[in-house]
Amino acid sequence: MKTVLLIVASLFLSCALPAQKQTTFRPATEWPDTEGKHINAHGGGILKKGKVYYWYGENRPDAGGSMNTGISVYTSRDLMNWENRGIALAVSSDTLSPIQPGCIMERPKVVYNKKTGKYVMLFHLELKGQGYAAAQVGFAVADKPEGPFRFLRGLRPNAGQWPVDFSQKDIDEALALDPAKYANWWTPEWRDAVKKGLFLARDQKGGQMSRDMTVYVDDDGTAYHLFSSEENLTLHLAELTEDYLDYTGKYIRIAPGGQNEAPALFKRNGKYWLITSGCTGWAPNEARMFVADSLWGEWKQLPTPFVGENAKKTFNGQSTFVLPYKNKGFIFMGDIWKPKSLSTSQYLWLPIQFQEDGTPTIPYREEWTLKDLMK
Ligand code: DGJ
Repeated sequence: MKTVLLIVASLFLSCALPAQKQTTFRPATEWPDTEGKHINAHGGGILKKGKVYYWYGENRPDAGGSMNTGISVYTSRDLMNWENRGIALAVSSDTLSPIQPGCIMERPKVVYNKKTGKYVMLFHLELKGQGYAAAQVGFAVADKPEGPFRFLRGLRPNAGQWPVDFSQKDIDEALALDPAKYANWWTPEWRDAVKKGLFLARDQKGGQMSRDMTVYVDDDGTAYHLFSSEENLTLHLAELTEDYLDYTGKYIRIAPGGQNEAPALFKRNGKYWLITSGCTGWAPNEARMFVADSLWGEWKQLPTPFVGENAKKTFNGQSTFVLPYKNKGFIFMGDIWKPKSLSTSQYLWLPIQFQEDGTPTIPYREEWTLKDLMK
């Protein structure tokens, strides 16, 4: 009897108590939403519409690496307290759909197109039963930021196109590379061939591979898709069409052969900054940083922006997005992956500091508030 009473009382209490309000950011901990459940929006990005922030991310199952729900959306006005608004882009029950349960949907990013009035989502798409072999980008569109998003198509970008900075000589050289000669990876000759466009030439017909990714909208409204291509060895920055639903064919390669994943791009005082990770699966590694005066380059590589203890492992996290906050500062957003149970993966949100010359620096903080952005 006593036990029954206790159970009833605890059930009552758990229903009656409102979830605790978040007053600080605490990286690498559980982050409860307004219902008290750990936020399930991994590899995510944020869109601001009016005073509301929309956080889109991978809705991961408790076990396994593939999707059975889709892309989550949460909303907030203060960036700390997030309400779960459900699934913005749902997997499809159509067994012919590229986004059927069992597919992989990663790193979704949503941007608003002022010309069409539509919300456009791009995400990394892998097809059911094919591991990470498909290496596609998925496009989806919605009339409202919370969705529902309608899946349009999955594809590999820029079929038949060469990077804008490739001369005819570069193209001829890339086409002359014989893949059979470079079957052994990681040799100095293979590395040289990769830089010259071994995989770029191989994928001319079917389009370029597209895995980890972000989308960036510049001040003039032009949008760019930045993604790990060429077997995750080289980043591509590709211009999107005016409606953000296709490619113009104009693109460049960044850090050929440099093995960058998890790109997060932002602009401050006229300079473009790019934070990436190396390629070690779910395991953390040392972040990288790049800077350029124009999106079209030249991109110069700099050391990791992370400083202090465990900076070499990016505080166990991996970049996903950089959020400008009013005109006051920038928030680095990362994931601390828990591959055995991806839904429990934690978040690494930290304020970015800037040195006198403008170079970003990211020290660790156990707890911080938005006021720390203004320092
Ligand atoms: C690293 C990527 O950054 C993640 O998004 C995910 O694709 C894992 N690899 C899978 O191993």
